[in-house]
Amino acid sequence: MSFDYINALLKKPTTRTPIWVMRQAGRYLPEYRATRQKAGDFMSLCKNPELACEVTMQPMDRFDLDAAILFSDILTIPDAMGLGLYFSEGEGPKFERPLKTLADIEAIPSEVNSDLAYVFDAVSTIKSALGDRAPLIGFSGSPWTLATYMIEGGSSKTFAKTKAMLFNDPKMLHLLLDKLADSVIAYLDQQVQSGVDSLMVFDTWGGVLSKANYLDFSLSYMQKIVSGVKAKHPNTPITLFSKNGGKHLSEIAATGCDGVGIDWTVELSEVEQQIGSKVAIQGNLDPAVMYATPDIVRAEVKKVLDQFQGDTGHIFNLGHGITPDVNPENMKVLVDAVHEFSAK
Ligand code: CP3
Repeated sequence: MSFDYINALLKKPTTRTPIWVMRQAGRYLPEYRATRQKAGDFMSLCKNPELACEVTMQPMDRFDLDAAILFSDILTIPDAMGLGLYFSEGEGPKFERPLKTLADIEAIPSEVNSDLAYVFDAVSTIKSALGDRAPLIGFSGSPWTLATYMIEGGSSKTFAKTKAMLFNDPKMLHLLLDKLADSVIAYLDQQVQSGVDSLMVFDTWGGVLSKANYLDFSLSYMQKIVSGVKAKHPNTPITLFSKNGGKHLSEIAATGCDGVGIDWTVELSEVEQQIGSKVAIQGNLDPAVMYATPDIVRAEVKKVLDQFQGDTGHIFNLGHGITPDVNPENMKVLVDAVHEFSAK
């Protein structure tokens, strides 16, 4: 099978610009909300391979998307490490037992695949449902992004505890990040063995670090992951996405990854000039465009497409996840516009 999404990642010819959307299976879809209700809560949905498959397929059935993404969460690894993940309505993720001391960090295992069988089962269930309709993206969080949740105990605005550890006790933080990198390598390896066709690493919070600290505490561990996964699966494309990472794109592109995700705060044309000869670029429509009228959505899609000069190597996406209050009709407008305007 030849897929535009995989070909674009490998900078091979495509029939048109492929598109998928971060959080394409999510709360903006009424059928997602119904399945989540049936599951009880979000983590029960993630832990049920049949239902995870059902919600993965929902956007595939509604829209002409070029890739499916495993329905799961980046916090499955910290959950399997025993931190007690729960989601409180409207407040996002929380951990009952956040990491506080060196002993806490020493105690966590550096490989948790045996407790993540539900994820690998979801991958194989989704693969059978997808057949050769579209490739399947597997993913994990970056060690730095996972560490922020594990140390803060949930979402944060200041990252006070994580940054205090970074400055007061960098060795302790490095120990955690190194363990997380090992567990992510094992996790992504098993996702590939279970059937995913490409991988993405979400570094949602890399952009809150200074340059030197970004390279030391975030990118070096994503580098370790790229090298570790490529050693086992040289042909599986890997995309790295540091949100707000616009200042670090050359360094990200030098890791040996295949694709680099960008948010909407950088110009696609400039990014293409900077790194487009080395890697594919994924992005970068402002997610807020999805609140506009269909005509404006189409016009904004055209603007993004017009910025990219190459024949291949662009994967259309939003610069971050689609938000819950978007009208699903606009998703159809978005996907169809990308295909219409980029058809060769
Ligand atoms: O469709 C897809 O993109 C695949 C599924 C997916 C989810 N989370 C489902 C989800 C993926 C790839 C993620 C990654 C993820 N999870 C990230 C990295 C990407 C990003 O958004 O920056 C992060 C930081 C998380 C952690 C997380 N999970 C948070 C902070 C939240 C709460 C915020 C929110 O949107 O409610 C979640 C919950 C979550 N993960 C939901 C979904 C569909 C919403 C849960 C619900 O149904 O209430």
